[in-house]
Amino acid sequence: TLVSLIGAPTDIGAGARGASMGPEALRVAQLGPILETHGVHVLDRGNLSGPANPWLPPVDGYRHLAEVAEWNRKVHEAVYAELRVGRLPILLGGDHCLGLGSISAVARHCRDAGKKLRVLWLDAHADFNTSALTPSGNIHGMPVACLCGHGPQELTGIGGQVPAISPKWVRQIGIRSVDPGEKRFVHEQGLEVFDMRFIDEMGMRHTMELALATLDANTHLHVSFDVDFLDPDIAPGVGTTVPGGPTYREAQLCMEMIADTGRLGSLDVMELNPALDVRNKTAALAVDLIESLFGKSTLMRA
Ligand code: ARG
Ligand code: MN
Ligand code: MN
Ligand code: MN
Repeated sequence: TLVSLIGAPTDIGAGARGASMGPEALRVAQLGPILETHGVHVLDRGNLSGPANPWLPPVDGYRHLAEVAEWNRKVHEAVYAELRVGRLPILLGGDHCLGLGSISAVARHCRDAGKKLRVLWLDAHADFNTSALTPSGNIHGMPVACLCGHGPQELTGIGGQVPAISPKWVRQIGIRSVDPGEKRFVHEQGLEVFDMRFIDEMGMRHTMELALATLDANTHLHVSFDVDFLDPDIAPGVGTTVPGGPTYREAQLCMEMIADTGRLGSLDVMELNPALDVRNKTAALAVDLIESLFGKSTLMRA
């Protein structure tokens, strides 16, 4: 596997400052060199640049819409360029609004290549708000809705096809915080959500079997990993912690089962906030889990 790391050092869509330091924290935790020990060839493309965070209140239900659009256009082009040359992009966030740029690029690549797309959205949040539904105006709460065509043209139009994806291609895992209006909209649009209650009752193994069912040799699997997916006891370094997330073992199994499919084609690692972390432990945990996602296992596997 040929991997390209793309840093997107911004917190333009977030409700707390600090995710702009995420890419560097993942490098300090040795993401590239550690992946190399698993036989992955890693090229670090460095960081993208974009507008500063002006830290303003919402306008018409959006905070920093123009800047969010600018960052997402840059992410889209960078991710698309790597996919075109056959590399596996890892987007180092940055806040989760950038999942829009990344996944719209993956969707465009899948159209070019005649591939089916499956998006696994690992998150405490559904990120399915619109300007009318959002309690905050923070666009990191909106990327899935924008990808499905619900949002302002500056965002939904990135990548040249609206909607970029169908809600049918998405599986959300670990969800435990959805705003009241957002809840109705998730239901209406038929998003497939494996929430924490489902994981509690059925276990991570059965959850992942269902989330990964119907993949085939022609499927491109994209994982959008919001680090707040993890329980905050093990992963405090995020801006929007929600108690009751997957444990270390559950998260490992989740990543291992994705690795076993052999279909991983692109990855986002989002919302890591070093300003809120403890001695970079959340970054180190993210790297540990990404190793499993790229096939690290205790014993030889058949
Ligand atoms: N639902 C809340 C909002 O829209 C929180 C979203 C958090 N999203 C995230 N990517 N951390 O403001
Ligand atoms: Mn490809
Ligand atoms: Mn989240
Ligand atoms: Mn998110």
